[in-house]
Amino acid sequence: MKIKKAVFPVAGYGTRLLPATKAIPKEMLTLIDKPLIQYAVEEAIDSGIEQIIFITGRTKKALEDHFDINFELNKILWESGRTKLYEDMKRISEMVDVIYVRQKEQLGLGHAIACAKDIIRDEPFAVILPDDIILSKEPVMAQLIRQYERVNGSVISLMPIEDYAAHKYGIVEVDSRLDDRLYKLSNMVEKPKDTPPSNLAIIGRYILTPDILPVLEELRPARGGEIQLTDALRALAKAGSVYGYEFEGQRFDCGDRVGLLEATINFAANNDELRPHLKEIIGKLQV
Ligand code: UTP
Repeated sequence: MKIKKAVFPVAGYGTRLLPATKAIPKEMLTLIDKPLIQYAVEEAIDSGIEQIIFITGRTKKALEDHFDINFELNKILWESGRTKLYEDMKRISEMVDVIYVRQKEQLGLGHAIACAKDIIRDEPFAVILPDDIILSKEPVMAQLIRQYERVNGSVISLMPIEDYAAHKYGIVEVDSRLDDRLYKLSNMVEKPKDTPPSNLAIIGRYILTPDILPVLEELRPARGGEIQLTDALRALAKAGSVYGYEFEGQRFDCGDRVGLLEATINFAANNDELRPHLKEIIGKLQV
């Protein structure tokens, strides 16, 4: 079945980036001149996604406005002859079909995804966490969709990490290796305190089969009072239908100050117009 819908959970508090996230969602913070959310939406569209479901919280207005038409701005840009900017702004509002669902209480990522159940119904769907931004030749979601078409089960994105960083991620336990990058998974542990079951961490891109929705709905809050996606994935993995794919690309954790800084520098280094400026700035830097 074709993957047409993508859920974007964007209702978190973003406490690691306060005060920037006090009045706007962290997904509206910018990398150079584009909000994180737009990079993630473009990745979804380039991967063939047709409908986007934002699970939002109290700061949803900025997101809605970003993907809406701004008549006044369009008029000013058009009348002042800035046609390229005008076209760019128009393109954002016409990008994709968007649905907004409100997560009334911030009960965790698992709960946020379950809020989309009436829209997802019985289709497999994508989940994108827009604070994970990934530089890659082929969009990571397209890489996952290709694997989903092979295995016909849930596929989650994986990245190798050092042991000392394992406590910050969900870490998977591998049942078997199907090829260079594809694994069948038997279990996963959220932020392990002791020895992690592997060096493969779960990153914010998923293809989920709809059987995860009733599992999510039955879960009770776990550690930190949140309903964890990892707990539902564990139940499906034990039933034998969850795969992991070590994607090709460089991932940045833009929900964190250092990750956001690293991403900004890397995106500038990858941009023909900005690269000479970056070199000059770094050349002059006194640290
Ligand atoms: P995080 O674990 O990064 O939490 O959520 P957070 O609140 O966004 O950020 P910090 O840790 O306080 O800085 C992972 C993803 O799940 C979403 C977030 O918006 C983010 O995309 N989320 C989390 C929800 O949509 N609802 C929730 O109740 C919790």
